[in-house]
Amino acid sequence: TNNHYFQYKGCNFVSTIYTKEHLEQLQHFEIKDTDVFIVTYPKSGTIWMQQIMSLIYSNGDPAAVQSKPAIERVPWIELPNSNFPARPSPRLSVTHLPYQLVPKALKEKMGKIIYVARNPKDVLVSSYYFHQHLALYESPKDFPDFLEKFLDGRVEFSCWFDHIREWYTHKDEFNFLFITYEEMKKDLGASIQKMCNFVGKQLSDEKLDSVVEHCRFDIMKKNPMANYEGIPKKSEDGTFLRKGIIGDWKNHFTVAQSEMFDRIFHERMKNVPLEFIWD
Ligand code: PPS
Repeated sequence: TNNHYFQYKGCNFVSTIYTKEHLEQLQHFEIKDTDVFIVTYPKSGTIWMQQIMSLIYSNGDPAAVQSKPAIERVPWIELPNSNFPARPSPRLSVTHLPYQLVPKALKEKMGKIIYVARNPKDVLVSSYYFHQHLALYESPKDFPDFLEKFLDGRVEFSCWFDHIREWYTHKDEFNFLFITYEEMKKDLGASIQKMCNFVGKQLSDEKLDSVVEHCRFDIMKKNPMANYEGIPKKSEDGTFLRKGIIGDWKNHFTVAQSEMFDRIFHERMKNVPLEFIWD
């Protein structure tokens, strides 16, 4: 695992993808007011937001998500080839970066941030399968081992608890909207309306319905431009869009593992006034 990741300012990055040079440079990116950044810890709804943002900005026109893969429409700024400075406005981006590593200009309240959080037990399960699925990663030994790694932050982008705590406690420094995966699952229309209000896009009811329709799990799963079909996999089993539900952790955690997780959660989230939906 040691040569699989490198650390940059306290955060783990996969060595074969990321570079220190780019991570350093991106902190000095110029930000425009029209730039929108989706911030997520991995497996919290990134690809879903790529789809939603593309559709909001195309006024619900599905053609926007049918010809180009999500990674080109709404790129990750931390990828060395993301070419952020040269992209035309409005630039829609995603990032898994922790608070301390994003472009500094965001703190001058340039641009907008939507932080999407997901309950960490489901994040862990989703990540566990993703590590089995993607060629890029070392396969987890077993679930207990992966659980331990996740809790210790020995995974890419390091510890879930640090990610959310740092972002949440510093949220007032940014133009910031906080939303959860679970909220989106329970009422996608209302969640998208909230995002539209935040970024200043007014859509008619009809267009809003079209956005909602085209970012449904089953529709996205069938769309090769929305589900990362081209990404190198270990086998053809499984897909990037796996289950897309709340509470799959219950099929994986033992009672003892869940109680241990809860204890650590309460300890580490003591000063973070957030409630999660667990099922
Ligand atoms: S990544 O690798 O960090 O970009 O992954 P990310 O996109 O953040 O998270 C993947 C999980 O999000 C689920 N997903 C969805 N759920 C509900 N509705 C829609 N439309 C949707 N699109 C993606 C995806 O299935 C992964 O969760 P799991 O639990 O593994 O199914």
